[in-house]
Amino acid sequence: MNGIKQILISKEELGKKVKELGNKISNDYEGKDLILVGVLKGGFVFLADLIRELKIPVEIDFISVSSYGSSSKSSGVVRIIKDIDISITNKHVMIVEDIADTGLTLKYLKEMLQTRGPADIKIIAALDKPSRRKVEIDLDYKGFTIPDEFVIGYGLDYAGKYRNLPDLCILDEEVYK
Ligand code: PRP
Repeated sequence: MNGIKQILISKEELGKKVKELGNKISNDYEGKDLILVGVLKGGFVFLADLIRELKIPVEIDFISVSSYGSSSKSSGVVRIIKDIDISITNKHVMIVEDIADTGLTLKYLKEMLQTRGPADIKIIAALDKPSRRKVEIDLDYKGFTIPDEFVIGYGLDYAGKYRNLPDLCILDEEVYK
């Protein structure tokens, strides 16, 4: 596909890692009721792969958030576009994200969901870009730590496109220059 500089993590590597994470979560949550909260839009591919590697019963819901305009993304103010439908009170919750970048989205979401009285809340991110972090967040489970490159695919977009790439790729600079 046009616009791809190189593959950073292949679909085979992604698949292997998701299987490992699925096994770990299945062991850690044995006998517990788990609700997975996928963060739209980017998180849906990882969530879809992850749930099929779980050997425990889980419920799924989605939340959609947006920062107040691109210029204020760094402010950490997040607007809920679509909230989850199900109650998480006294339930074990896991937020499922494609990537932790500045950490602002995950910090906000965890604090917001915490006010609803869950048994506990953990975070899983397929990708971690720690070099971009602005606030401290604890990733309980994660797939890969990646360098500060513009990545696309596996749910991540550039201008709404490329989410369907099965590999995680680096975007060609020519596309956004
Ligand atoms: C991306 C990603 C995370 C967030 C991470 O979403 O899916 O939700 O940014 O960034 P942060 O750690 O700096 O908060 P984006 O706003 O691009 O929306 P999308 O998932 O709909 O593409």
